[in-house]
Amino acid sequence: MTDAASGSTVRRPRVVLGVAGGIAAYKAVEVLRQLTETGHDVRVVPTASALRFVGEPTWSALSGHPVATDVWTDAAEVAHVRLGREADLVLIAPATADLLARAATGRSDDLLTATLLTARCPVVFAPAMHTEMWEHPATRANVATLRARGCVVIDPAVGRLTGADSGAGRLPEPAEIASLARAVLARGGDGLAAGPAPDLAGRRIVISAGGTREHLDPVRFLGNSSSGRQGQALARAAIARGGDVVVVAANVALPDVAGARTVRLVSTEQLRAAVHAEAAQADVVIMAAAVADFRPVARATYKIKKTDGDPEPVALVRNPDVLAELVAARRPGQVLVGFAAETGGPGVDVLDLGREKLARKGSDLLVVNQVGDGLGFEVDHNAAVVLGADGSETMIERTSKDLLAHRVLDLVVTRLAVRDGPDAGVAVGTRR
Ligand code: CTP
Repeated sequence: MTDAASGSTVRRPRVVLGVAGGIAAYKAVEVLRQLTETGHDVRVVPTASALRFVGEPTWSALSGHPVATDVWTDAAEVAHVRLGREADLVLIAPATADLLARAATGRSDDLLTATLLTARCPVVFAPAMHTEMWEHPATRANVATLRARGCVVIDPAVGRLTGADSGAGRLPEPAEIASLARAVLARGGDGLAAGPAPDLAGRRIVISAGGTREHLDPVRFLGNSSSGRQGQALARAAIARGGDVVVVAANVALPDVAGARTVRLVSTEQLRAAVHAEAAQADVVIMAAAVADFRPVARATYKIKKTDGDPEPVALVRNPDVLAELVAARRPGQVLVGFAAETGGPGVDVLDLGREKLARKGSDLLVVNQVGDGLGFEVDHNAAVVLGADGSETMIERTSKDLLAHRVLDLVVTRLAVRDGPDAGVAVGTRR
């Protein structure tokens, strides 16, 4: 199919960006910009009150499309039906308490809510409001209704709100909202209308990301070059599928994933404590972090100086194997996933190493990827073979970390479904 605007033979993904009337509407300008810059065809549908914060010329100039708020403008076009039917994704950022209430009750008193009723594609709400409004039982009920209906409603970030106060209710960073939109679109590929259901709704997923550091003194450490990108992509994909996601981030220099709760830490011991605490309520734990296997026996309180004398060899002690501990403490029905970044070696096959590691760790799945040659750490693409405890081997060809994340989650969802069988007695985590 040819896209008229770009002349490209690939149809650009169509996003309806709904903007409700909250102060965070100014951040939606950046969401729009990020999406158009990555080739998305974005139609902005502000509510009348959103236009009090950011005017129509801004939305139309940056989207390259005319903008309307009511169904009476260009009535012959029947805009709400066309917008809803043609969209691959409807993203509402910010979603105010009022917009959530109108969407939950199926009102259609403006172009945005009418579009929501005609849309058959994935719908994502990014709420932003004061903490009291977010926590009010009326808003909680509206959010629950929308989630039960198959929409993704992400949890707002915690931080500075409009005034001097802070708490839950802040719109996540625009770049992260745009990345989440791409993760939703990545799952469906072409033909997203009636897109795939959020199959992780109601599931709590804990994902470790990054790499732990073991300090020799306050400024020096033993560490690794894991960026946390793959772990973050998994978190984004899980949010896109409706999951309730906690990221345990070891030295990740990237912003928090929109909709996830992020716990930031440094050492293996801290990661171990955080992962175990979160795993106690989790349906799925994915250990994507590169965990340091050893730590120095002692950590100097002050910076080690050259003048302290000739260096002593660094004495190391083994760290606990967190994944193996999780396997030993597994909740009924919990799915555990490990990652293994391997380089192989002369006469040593990466997959043989993976099979041996899966048997040693006892997880349900082990995602084996070869690192080096532009693959693995600090890059946006990856390839992997996912080994299953059931003997399965799933090849994932070199692809974006977003798509790889969805392929891994496809396998997780299959295993959750098996365990949910009639006699499985699975306790499904409850959403915060
Ligand atoms: N892992 C862990 N705790 C450790 C080491 C690793 O939980 N102390 C987890 C990682 O998060 C990953 C999996 O185990 O999911 C495999 O990690 P890897 O470093 O490849 O395995 P190791 O057991 O450390 O084996 P080796 O480094 O010798 O290859």
